[in-house]
Amino acid sequence: MSEGMKLEDVVCIGRTHGEYLALFDLASERLKGLRVLDCPAGVCSFTADACQHGVDAVASDRAYAFDASALYEKGTQDIVTTMKALEPIQDRYVWSTYQTIEGLTAFRREALEKSTAHRKRSPERYVEASLPQLPFTDSSFDLVLSANFLFLYEEHFDEAFHVQALQELIRVSSREVRVYPIVGLNGKPSIHLDACIRLAEAQGCRVTQADVPYEFLKGASRMLLVEK
Ligand SMILES: C[S@@+](CC[C@H](N)C(=O)[O-])C[C@H]1O[C@@H](n2cnc3c(N)ncnc32)[C@H](O)[C@@H]1O
Repeated sequence: MSEGMKLEDVVCIGRTHGEYLALFDLASERLKGLRVLDCPAGVCSFTADACQHGVDAVASDRAYAFDASALYEKGTQDIVTTMKALEPIQDRYVWSTYQTIEGLTAFRREALEKSTAHRKRSPERYVEASLPQLPFTDSSFDLVLSANFLFLYEEHFDEAFHVQALQELIRVSSREVRVYPIVGLNGKPSIHLDACIRLAEAQGCRVTQADVPYEFLKGASRMLLVEK
């Protein structure tokens, strides 16, 4: 377990498979047969649904130091807390997908329910790991996805962490890494974006800031596409 990590420190809010397809601009058919890593995955249900659609998906997160039931309990509380916190700042978000806080809550509950049930059924697909280090060999995955962590929490994780984490995600991918979003919580391009792009280009990757058909936090409508 990451040193000193307590369950109170883990925020268990996850996206659904459908949200991942939108925010990474992916088509389900394109993923069939691929080995895909979601990191950090938390209580996101991408892996659960992707496996049902013929994808060899693996989820990784430092929170998997806690068992599925403990994360489920925490996730249930976190949905309530997060929705309360969202009420006074709703104008910072685009509501075309979710319409209302109740609508958004339904997506977060679906992710929590499905990811918990799948982790209980297929624990081998949920690997505890703490970025910037991953317990996978080089080029283990065709595609690596990283959502709602890097860049978004730019104030909590410094530039060195971002660069090392991206380098590690690139290392374990044989073809492609996608990171969403590329803005901080203020909706502006992350202060760590340029350093990460320089790192990826220095490794010989092709890097694109690509539009995606998803925007909830205003300004978060692009991903970083890194091709090896
Ligand atoms: C906001 S959640 C995003 C989960 C998922 N990607 C999604 O979009 O639904 C952020 C996740 O990052 C995980 N996390 C925080 N620090 C981490 C680290 N150093 N290594 C791996 N996971 C970490 C947390 O446990 C949490 O599950």
